Amino acid sequence: METIRLGQNGPAVTPLCIGTWAWGDKLFWNYGNSNNDAEKLQDAFNAALETGVTFFDTAEIYGSGLSEKFLGEFTQKASKPVQIATKYGPMPWRIRGRAVSDALTASLQRLQVQKVDLYQVHWGFAFLMSQHTLMNALADEVQRGRIAAVGVSNYTADQMREAHQILARRGVPLAVNQVRYSLLTRQVESKGIVDTASELGVTLLAYSPLAQGLLTGKYGANSSETPTGARKVDPRFSKENLQKIEPLISLLRRIGVNYGKTPAQVALNWLICQGNVIPIAGAKTAEQVVQNAGALGWRLSNDEVAELDGITLQWK
Ligand SMILES: NC(=O)c1ccc[n+]([C@@H]2O[C@H](COP(=O)([O-])OP(=O)(O)OC[C@H]3O[C@@H](n4cnc5c(N)ncnc54)[C@H](OP(=O)(O)O)[C@@H]3O)[C@@H](O)[C@H]2O)c1
Repeated sequence: METIRLGQNGPAVTPLCIGTWAWGDKLFWNYGNSNNDAEKLQDAFNAALETGVTFFDTAEIYGSGLSEKFLGEFTQKASKPVQIATKYGPMPWRIRGRAVSDALTASLQRLQVQKVDLYQVHWGFAFLMSQHTLMNALADEVQRGRIAAVGVSNYTADQMREAHQILARRGVPLAVNQVRYSLLTRQVESKGIVDTASELGVTLLAYSPLAQGLLTGKYGANSSETPTGARKVDPRFSKENLQKIEPLISLLRRIGVNYGKTPAQVALNWLICQGNVIPIAGAKTAEQVVQNAGALGWRLSNDEVAELDGITLQWK
């Protein structure tokens, strides 16, 4: 499979990443509601490797560490090397640079590895810790060999520039900014994040690329399928909004017919067609992983990309 380098000289990864927020998360994703959930996750992990997708995204806070633990267990038994991205949460009580080192030690233990391929700051506000302290602590860990590449997440264009500058003084490139990006969430384009990332040589990782299931079309206005967990009360999943997005879902279906692809696969391919973007598709089952991996190895035409751009301008 084709690989993409993260940032200027980061690790080479697959053009799709598997998101593991739901792996062990009870609050938002209802993990544990059926008794074979852990087995399904192992199957999802194996399915990813079988399709050739070996890049996984997690965070110390997902399932309060359970997501990292699952990935650690599965990686130990994996048939081939995998690349793992995890995240540091800049919590208010984390004041000194030492907190970064301690959090990373705990993540490495749960993941059962000596080094992570990508370590990202989960959000742009670090309370009492300055960006200077934070970025220097991350650069120290690159020097110690415990992080291959440094990333940020949910950073604005200006915050990205600042992080990039501080790291550059230490000779460390900022490899990624992980942001919410899908056909239904295009603000990263209008807020200058997409342009700034390409100017700085920063790869964008697109989270919630399926708008948490909306772009799969399975939660349509006339569908009996209802989302689990916190999405039940999310207005984006209301009947009204499902009706509003119906023209987009119909277009995804119509375009998909040209390639024998599903709406989810077309939606992920649109992101890939933006260039410099790796979608992180969250998946709980092997079927979802296999379907999402079907977004790779083909390309929408320029006209189809333009048509999708046009119909989603209101979400820009
Ligand atoms: N940095 C951040 O602040 C941040 C924030 C959010 C997410 N993330 C990362 O991005 C990843 C993905 O984001 P996300 O999980 O919010 O949203 P997403 O990828 O847009 O949606 C994932 C959900 O959609 C459904 N789904 C996925 N593939 C499907 C398919 N082929 N067919 C039908 N349903 C499918 C599944 O839920 P159901 O089966 O229950 O519908 C799945 O859990 C996360 O796992 C996490 O790694 C990062």
